[in-house]
Amino acid sequence: VANPPDRAKDDSSVGAKNGQLSRAGSLTVLRRTNSKSKLASSSSSRTSSIAESDSYASVDLGTDKLPPIDTPEASHVCSIRLRNILRRIQNGEVPKEDLYKNLEYAASVLESVYVDETSTVKDTTKNSIEPPTPQPKSSKERLTDEDDELSEVEPDAVPTEVRDWLALTFTRSMNNVRRRGQEKPKFRSVAHAIRAGIMVDRIYRRLSSSSTLHIPPAVLQLLKGMDDWSFDVFALNSAADGHSLKYVGYELLQKYDLVTKYKINSSMLDSFLLQLEAGYSKYKNPYHNLVHGADVTQTVHNILSQSKLAHWLTDLEVFATIVAALIHDFEHTGTTNNFHIQTGSEFALLYNDKAVLENHHICASFRIMRSEESNILNHLSREEYREFRALVIEMVLATDMSFHFQQLKNMKNLLGMPENIDKQKALSLVLHCADISHPAKDWSLHHRWTNQLLEEFFKQGDREQELGLPISPLCDREKTLVAESQIGFIDFIVDPSFTVMTEMLEKILTPLQKAARSEEAISEEVFDKSDKSKYVLSTPWADCLAINKNKWKEQAAKDAEERKRKEAEEKSKVPNSNTNNNTTKAPVPADKATPVVNCSTGKGGN
Ligand code: CMP
Ligand code: MG
Ligand code: ZN
Repeated sequence: VANPPDRAKDDSSVGAKNGQLSRAGSLTVLRRTNSKSKLASSSSSRTSSIAESDSYASVDLGTDKLPPIDTPEASHVCSIRLRNILRRIQNGEVPKEDLYKNLEYAASVLESVYVDETSTVKDTTKNSIEPPTPQPKSSKERLTDEDDELSEVEPDAVPTEVRDWLALTFTRSMNNVRRRGQEKPKFRSVAHAIRAGIMVDRIYRRLSSSSTLHIPPAVLQLLKGMDDWSFDVFALNSAADGHSLKYVGYELLQKYDLVTKYKINSSMLDSFLLQLEAGYSKYKNPYHNLVHGADVTQTVHNILSQSKLAHWLTDLEVFATIVAALIHDFEHTGTTNNFHIQTGSEFALLYNDKAVLENHHICASFRIMRSEESNILNHLSREEYREFRALVIEMVLATDMSFHFQQLKNMKNLLGMPENIDKQKALSLVLHCADISHPAKDWSLHHRWTNQLLEEFFKQGDREQELGLPISPLCDREKTLVAESQIGFIDFIVDPSFTVMTEMLEKILTPLQKAARSEEAISEEVFDKSDKSKYVLSTPWADCLAINKNKWKEQAAKDAEERKRKEAEEKSKVPNSNTNNNTTKAPVPADKATPVVNCSTGKGGN
């Protein structure tokens, strides 16, 4: 075969979107070019590095020993083989028969994926056209004021401290509810989107396993679990040597093909992600650190992808959602909004006591994205930039917990109306749920996050004590009722949020299912056959919440026993319990363990 023109670049166009293989894919090589570890993506370095790194690249070009075409390794091996052939073609060393055999193999691998996916679709759509049934309505559509939500909490249901904390943190008077015109959702060709989505996802996963070059193998292995609900972000962070945010961000921007779509320069992306990590590490927070950023971003991805909500969104909306998650706690100070307000901090002054931290997260990260070396948005049109920015701002502002009850109320309101759900509101709720999702993950993850968060709260309590301020609820390391606080958090905050989000996803995705069915393309993976009128979402969080709540209940009972025991011990130490002297502290009743903070201002904090 005569030397063809150098097509290595064009042939590297593998990646993912709507069934097409795009350039970035997951084969991009991360090259550290200097101590600042610049990212570099080049198809020629990719070509040679992959070829050299794999035994399939160095053996003869026979196809007999290659894995069967329908096995998971086939596409990986195939891509390596094709790269090797491309390299050899340049030197004119590929016999025609070898080229023929290998192209035949490659075509079969691709066909096997295609046939596999389409037949799944067909099989599951047999006899599936049924008249749509009315959409089920939420049983909880009653609208209440945010204050009513709290007043529904029975006075005895939670200790005073937990109740105060709920009031202080999750409510405020909200006059500035932003309403936007109802947008009609634009569905793409739904059947194709679903088919392509599943196919591309699988191809992606296979290809992803081959980019072992500058992503450490252990990291690569863990990134394969990114679609799982209880993904272990701590394990990823250890394997990634403390760079979990960078890898999660990079992986997702590649996975959704946003790097290619928005022509994101790889060294700018690297710089942006490293600067994000530095910002998250600035205050050395036990909880609000880069691992939390990575965790929330991965969780948002899980919800978008597992529910297939991503198909409802434009590329720009997916891009904005991932970036919003990545930046959502950027440069968090490890203290709450309320602490900023009470201490009159610079940030509180700057943002007039309103969503103090959230405003800072947004402002500081847009500053980075505007900088020359980290401008990942420089190829967005003016209109795209405006839309992207508006969406990120709205989503991150809605992570202010004092907006929580108002946000749920607004969404419940929208669920009861015939109109389509506003995309910005929908995505804001997804991010908010991801932000408070750890109690809905495996116990080992939730327990670890809780310890870290409480340590951060306690550090704030120490500072409040030093400053002579009242110690905020949950911030007193001596007296806080940890288990009770978590039961309260699950019951009154997390569970209702996930319930509303589930109803929202069902409302959004049921029409998508109907459209898909009319194209006879319902995938078994997406829709439950038993109830074809309603989109059925998998809700892994529900079981986790129930399990974790029970664990905390057991813990609460043990803690109460322990307190009783200590109380009795203290009493027995005091010879005459009626005569309190100055050196003996009166025991604090369990339900009054923490001083009540005046929360009549209704100003919240995180
Ligand atoms: P932030 O991550 O900024 O936004 C969500 C907030 O929820 C978080 O800060 C905490 O203030 C709060 N939060 C998250 N998990 C818990 C928890 N287990 N107990 C109490 N508060 C929590
Ligand atoms: Mg926050
Ligand atoms: Zn957060």
